[in-house]
Amino acid sequence: AAVEFGLDAPYDVEYHDRVESTNAIARERATAGASDLLVLADEQIGGRGRREREWQSPSGGVWASVVLRPDRPPAAVPLLTFAAAVAVTEAVRERGVDAAIKWPNDVIVPGAGERGGRKLCGVLTEMSGESGRVSWVVVGIGLNANVPQGALPPEATSVQAEVGPVDRRSLVQDILERFSELADRPEATLSVWSEHALTIGQHVRIETARETFEGEAVGVTDAGALLVDTGDEERTVYAGDCEHVR
Ligand code: BTN
Repeated sequence: AAVEFGLDAPYDVEYHDRVESTNAIARERATAGASDLLVLADEQIGGRGRREREWQSPSGGVWASVVLRPDRPPAAVPLLTFAAAVAVTEAVRERGVDAAIKWPNDVIVPGAGERGGRKLCGVLTEMSGESGRVSWVVVGIGLNANVPQGALPPEATSVQAEVGPVDRRSLVQDILERFSELADRPEATLSVWSEHALTIGQHVRIETARETFEGEAVGVTDAGALLVDTGDEERTVYAGDCEHVR
């Protein structure tokens, strides 16, 4: 199937025209022992985002899940998610899209006005392991590539809507090459991420599973958690949604 898609990737490639979710397939493969495998689809009918949300995945997108067995502690796994966001940001920027990262791993097109801040890509990382060791990681990348605006949620955008359709094969190729390079260099990931990230220095509204609060984003920890100064205290946010409020 890799040959069918014509990818010369640093991973084995399993390509599908239409699936429920590439992350679901990747998890199955991981459980069965796979590694260095990319599961790629043109369309997902049951795509999933963070926090159990649906992820609209019409034909023309890049719906991709990478199975890895990294030799790193669970606390360093979020850096793989950051690496994916960096790889996508750089690849779409090379194609003329004015993209940047919103903590933790949304790729957005900043801009002003009605189209400003729209989401282009999200990353959903899942992992398994026990007693402090990682067994496998699935990094799921959802990039609205050649998807027309009308097939997307209103707060989203696509590469096609921003700059016109692109060659998905070379786009995926560039993303994977950069991702695998950063996956091997966890110590380098955070500084490149910071170069592409918009969140630090912004006033943000954080929504976690338990609460909502605002403050100024002042930095990230080595594990990628966001540091937010609420005025009263500095909070460390490991997981949640972040909106730039001004
Ligand atoms: C987010 O909520 O921002 C993350 C979205 C991740 C979507 C991708 S598409 C490929 C992979 N398969 C899924 O079902 N989800 C991820």
